[in-house]
Amino acid sequence: MSTIKYSVIIMLLWTGPALAQDNNGPRLGKHLSKETIQQRNFTVFPNGQGLPLGQGTVEAGRTVYTTRCLHCHGTEGSGNSAEELAGALHRLTDEPPDKTIGTYWPYATTLFDFIRRSMPMDSPGSLTTQNVYDVTAYLLFLNEIIDYDHTIDNKTLANIKMPNRNGFIDLYSTKK
Ligand code: HEC
Repeated sequence: MSTIKYSVIIMLLWTGPALAQDNNGPRLGKHLSKETIQQRNFTVFPNGQGLPLGQGTVEAGRTVYTTRCLHCHGTEGSGNSAEELAGALHRLTDEPPDKTIGTYWPYATTLFDFIRRSMPMDSPGSLTTQNVYDVTAYLLFLNEIIDYDHTIDNKTLANIKMPNRNGFIDLYSTKK
């Protein structure tokens, strides 16, 4: 009999704080505004789906690069405290591999997505759409993928053929 009583008391003690927490929440973090969620909720797919309207030039991208990227990625993407982005001296299949945008990245659209999402690393999200298009163009130029006077835009970025486009194995489509 007394065992039952004890269990009831223990159950009450146990569920009490849990119920209080359900009502009020743990009060961690803060709610994001609709605008912030919309701003963060973007993905550009390899086929260009999700790209914002816009275009970019190598010339303007050079300025973005110099002011926002160079201190980490070095002159013309040669690498500094952060990754080398261009100017590979040998191939990805060499030992050690030389991994740059030109030798590694399969899609120019993913490059756009990555930069917009996470660069510059010291202040991600601070670039305008225009900045991202421009600096993407500049990096494609440094990797000898487009000419200096080429303008990239949301309609044509997906058509740029990256040198390592076929260097990846698509595990999903090869799975039986
Ligand atoms: C504060 C230093 C810093 C700045 C400024 C910076 N980056 Fe980066 N970047 C990094 C680091 C560190 C990595 C490696 C991140 C990783 O591997 O997850 C990186 C990775 C990258 C990559 C991927 C390289 C690869 O092949 O893996 C690209 C592309 C890139 N940055 C572009 C840019 C561009 C464009 C800018 C300027 C708009 C910029 N970064 C500014 C530190 C920086």
